[in-house]
Amino acid sequence: TWHLGDFADALIEQIRKQVGSRRVICGLSGGVDSSVVAALLYKAIGPQLSCILIDNGLLRKDEQGAVITEFSNHFKADLRVVNAEQRFLETLKGISEPQEKRKRIGYAFIDCFQEEARSIEDAHFLAQGTLYPDVIESGAAKDGPAATIKLHHNVGGLPEKLGFELIEPLRDLFKDEVRRLGEELGLPEVLVWRHPFPGPGLAVRCLGEITREKLDVLREADEIVVNEIKAAGLYRQTSQAFAVLLPVQSVGVMGDARTYDNAVAIRSVNTDDFMTADWSRLPYDLLAKISTRIINEVKGVNRVCYDISSKPPATIEWE
Ligand code: XMP
Repeated sequence: TWHLGDFADALIEQIRKQVGSRRVICGLSGGVDSSVVAALLYKAIGPQLSCILIDNGLLRKDEQGAVITEFSNHFKADLRVVNAEQRFLETLKGISEPQEKRKRIGYAFIDCFQEEARSIEDAHFLAQGTLYPDVIESGAAKDGPAATIKLHHNVGGLPEKLGFELIEPLRDLFKDEVRRLGEELGLPEVLVWRHPFPGPGLAVRCLGEITREKLDVLREADEIVVNEIKAAGLYRQTSQAFAVLLPVQSVGVMGDARTYDNAVAIRSVNTDDFMTADWSRLPYDLLAKISTRIINEVKGVNRVCYDISSKPPATIEWE
């Protein structure tokens, strides 16, 4: 029979052999995949590991701090944080077309990562949290219609451009296997069961042109959505849940004044593989609570909608 502990040991041993005495760089996102990669590397080669966290200004509320805290609680490895919000906002200025937004975020990410990686002089390897579905999807993307649906920047391109040798310890695994491996490696539950978050971050949930102000509104709304789902005990039963800031204003009434403010959509889906998904049947009372809180607490929002589209034909993200 297949033992997860043996599997983890074998992966760690394999990494040790491959790396020898050389240095490995690992990009950290705060998500489960990159955390499991970091944990494997840390166990395998500890002091030869350098992690890089790029804060692109498109992260969720207080996310940079949370990632740093989690990291330092579990690893004593080198962590370099790059505060690149200005750079990303600059390159996104005036851009509202989704593919163009993704492309620019991808390029800015490569630039920032490259700059930081170059300052780590003896680095030889680059570790990535590529999963089996990423491998399939990017393979299919070369000759199939999947190529034109959405650009993913987490697979391919980066290591070659940087001149590193690649380490992808998770490339034979599915998400649920990565989660079990994370538990086996002693990562905390909040990290292991965290919903996936896309590389382009809040940019694909802030529809149309991105501004710091819009991102801040979205961060507040998103935090309410996630916290209320957690408080209702439904976080682990949903695969992904978040807020989307729509590029729409609508009329409302507040006291005896007319408002003309933003609309927020709640998106919550259930899925096994993220290739198809159904909208979560969240309880009405929970939706009511989320809606009331967002409208009362988030300045600039006067309307909340629930997204009841399945994938396909809709996608999970709105852009
Ligand atoms: P869609 O919106 O295509 O998303 O149904 C499927 C899953 O992929 C995530 N996603 C991304 N992840 N880089 C990522 O790392 C990306 O560019 C990207 N686009 C979508 C999305 O959050 C969902 O889990």
